[in-house]
Amino acid sequence: MLTFPLGPSSHLRMLEESDAGELHELIEANRPRLQRWMAWASGHATPAETLEFIRATRRQIAANEGFQATLVVGGRIAGMAGFHAIDWQNRAASLGYWLSAGEEGKGTMTEAVRALTGHALSGWHLNRVEIRADVENLRSRAIPERLGFRQEGTLRQAYRISGERYSDDVVYAMLAADWPEAQPRDTRAAQRRETSSR
Ligand SMILES: CC(C)(COP(=O)(O)OP(=O)(O)OC[C@H]1O[C@@H](n2cnc3c(N)ncnc32)[C@H](O)[C@@H]1OP(=O)(O)O)[C@@H](O)C(=O)NCCC(=O)NCCS
Repeated sequence: MLTFPLGPSSHLRMLEESDAGELHELIEANRPRLQRWMAWASGHATPAETLEFIRATRRQIAANEGFQATLVVGGRIAGMAGFHAIDWQNRAASLGYWLSAGEEGKGTMTEAVRALTGHALSGWHLNRVEIRADVENLRSRAIPERLGFRQEGTLRQAYRISGERYSDDVVYAMLAADWPEAQPRDTRAAQRRETSSR
């Protein structure tokens, strides 16, 4: 199973159908704070719909359209991070994420997004990874900013949160050329030599 170690007690892994109950409970416990920013969190979901979501994540993997990973901390599901889809033609992908309230403030999601960005740019050799966040969602915006993504602009009323509520979204992107781990091995070695000789 594809997993990404993040720290001594945290990792990202693919969802299994057996995760449905735990994931459902976590979403319900966090729904009020998630629905402020994410359209899928408004309204209700039944446990059966959460199971159907997990099945959809498996179909996404089978179709080679990226993946949604669950974040596991201390053996418990603590959130999700993953790719909405992959645009193979343009070698680009966009990322989304959420974390349970209890896990905020420890840097775990920043590490998760770092791992996924690295996988996209170095593993899949994509050229661009994009993250969009509501201008008001400062915690979310801090993640790409911490990782050195470039802020490219703001899309007005680009995302319908619910009803007539739209968010203005800041677009951040990382290009392969700016992600050190995505550069060919020889280039990195040369850069290290150059830095150490300064
Ligand atoms: C967006 C969201 C995932 C951010 O969570 P987060 O806990 O702030 O992000 P991280 O796990 O990367 O942690 C960063 C925090 O840990 C702190 N931190 C501690 N150790 C750290 C480390 N080693 N590295 C980085 N940050 C560290 C940072 O200072 C920061 O805290 P601060 O904002 O109080 O300064 C979370 O708020 C969330 O799920 N929100 C609701 C859903 C949502 O908005 N999703 C995004 C939609 S675009």
